[in-house]
Amino acid sequence: MKKVGIIGVGEYLPEKILTNADLEKMVDTSDEWITTRTGIKTRHLAAKDEATSDLATKAAKEALEAARISPQDLDLIIVATITPDMQFPSTATFVQANLGAKDAICFDISAACAGFIYAISIAHQFIARGTCRNALVIGAEVLSSITDWQDRNTCVLFGDGAGACVLAEAKSDGILSTYLGSDGTKTDLLNLPAGGSRHPASQKTLDERMHYLKMQGNEVFKIAVTSMTDAAQEALKRAGLECADVNWIIPHQANIRIINALAKRLGFVNAQVYLNIDRCGNMSSASTATALCEAVKEGKIKRSDIVLLDAFGAGLVWGAAIIRW
Ligand code: ACO
Repeated sequence: MKKVGIIGVGEYLPEKILTNADLEKMVDTSDEWITTRTGIKTRHLAAKDEATSDLATKAAKEALEAARISPQDLDLIIVATITPDMQFPSTATFVQANLGAKDAICFDISAACAGFIYAISIAHQFIARGTCRNALVIGAEVLSSITDWQDRNTCVLFGDGAGACVLAEAKSDGILSTYLGSDGTKTDLLNLPAGGSRHPASQKTLDERMHYLKMQGNEVFKIAVTSMTDAAQEALKRAGLECADVNWIIPHQANIRIINALAKRLGFVNAQVYLNIDRCGNMSSASTATALCEAVKEGKIKRSDIVLLDAFGAGLVWGAAIIRW
């Protein structure tokens, strides 16, 4: 098996920023409630003419530049997203065309907030087995397109953005382990009811606002903490490491209270947690992707650091990855 590492990262956050004060004018909420219950202060929103592939392409260009490879060197593009440009074709094919990456295999992954880690795990296996050499993995979302701006339970939580990384064969192991899990008995806790084959678009689905994300936040919260803790422990075990070996935790940025509970349960002694939830909110698959990119670009993650990626989302699905930088 070949050794695999991350050789470049990139991100793109749309220009428009929506503040808690803005939301106070839209629904019955307050900056105080949103800040104390979630840790979110602002989030980025895509422009009307920006689709998920546009955000993804910008993040990808930065990652390719950092990796010092050209789009023609790519043989795999995976986009993790729950807000694809269209039901089909895949968002990855739009990114391929935008980049001119003519030799890449392209497909999307639907694993909600854990999508970026699922995609890393898949790309890792393609490269480790010698099927591909250079893979572009992107977590990109325009969650504002499926957010019900009349529902205070959900509209304060989400934002838009994209993060990307390039995986390639490396001299020493960068991806030390990945661990993925799913529980399909809880699809009712978090979903987008209409627009698929179960409830195709109709006047009824529009009238009943079924094209917007629905979530039983409280139930999801409890399972998120347990699943992310288990995922971290299992990924560490697979890497032959312990909590004390971890330098940086890059958790999914759904709620600051989930992140604090996770860090407390794991009892990390040497690790720091990277956060962008206050500025970006929950960007689903783009949350871990952008947080990883920012921590690298800000010089926080240093060579040889052990990094834990840990996420949880609709499905339910969860996953963790251990990376030696
Ligand atoms: N402003 C003011 N009050 C509000 C708001 C708001 N924006 N939203 C809800 N409330 C009210 C509720 O109506 C409720 O009032 P009531 O007691 O009078 O009925 C009260 O606040 C408490 O509501 P809860 O839902 O119990 O609040 P909770 O503390 O659980 O926080 C939250 C809600 C932030 C959604 C939290 O449960 C959470 O973060 N859940 C996990 C989300 C997550 O991890 N999702 C997975 C990834 S997302 C994906 O996969 C796409």
